[in-house]
Amino acid sequence: MNGNLPHFDVLPTHIGFIMDGNGRWAKRRGLPRGEGHKEGAKVFKKIGEYCADVGIRYMTFYAFSTENWHRPRQEVAGLMELFTEYLSDGELRLGDNETRQMRLHFIGRRDGLPAELLELIERAERKTAMYDRVHVNIALNYGGRDEIVHAVQQIAAQVADGSLAPADITEQTVADRLYTAGQPDPDIIVRPSGELRLSNFLTWQSAYSELWFSDVLWPDFTEQDVNRVIEDYAKRSRRFGGV
Ligand code: IPE
Ligand code: IPE
Ligand code: MG
Repeated sequence: MNGNLPHFDVLPTHIGFIMDGNGRWAKRRGLPRGEGHKEGAKVFKKIGEYCADVGIRYMTFYAFSTENWHRPRQEVAGLMELFTEYLSDGELRLGDNETRQMRLHFIGRRDGLPAELLELIERAERKTAMYDRVHVNIALNYGGRDEIVHAVQQIAAQVADGSLAPADITEQTVADRLYTAGQPDPDIIVRPSGELRLSNFLTWQSAYSELWFSDVLWPDFTEQDVNRVIEDYAKRSRRFGGV
């Protein structure tokens, strides 16, 4: 673990990270986009572990959106390979998970993912299922709207079979059927790379999230940037509609 860790009086419970800017990072170096994704995966590990070490209990990392299938076939295939390689090297990484008592959750649509990757996802979830100190969500084949549609389908099925009355549907009914059921909403969402949008990330859960933008590209994201996020978060006044 990290030696000289800063102490923060106020910590967000849940941080969402939109890992954007890998392609531009590679382009600036005259490298193929895939090299940016490889670097991005390393930064994912570094930032996840650092957040865990400073005491963040929940994190969600956006790795692949339901819209990212629109990219050139070769880039999509390269990303699926990268995710597969990353998780096959799981013994080493799962050891790090044990040290930090970090549980992995994959959020998003399972169908459409290569079979080998699916097996590795299930293995990573199974092998970390006993940890509860830190929860890391990896949003893969994830779309916020898609997640809500999925929840609505489950609710509609229950209404149809008579186990749920329409009048009994509350915000909690919906939240309980999202991939993040049981987890706190993100307190702050971090988007690097200069884009000022959420790109279908945690659409329901972000209703009251603080937003944090930066021009830094994800592969250049550092522990100091995390410190900045936490320090800025501590200065925000969260009113939730009150005064
Ligand atoms: C984010 O980086 C990674 C994925 C969406 C998979 P990008 O690939 O979107 O990088 P830019 O935005 O083109 O720089
Ligand atoms: C958002 O980045 C998705 C991920 C980081 C996985 P994109 O690069 O896909 O977002 P847009 O297309 O710029 O909105
Ligand atoms: Mg992008």
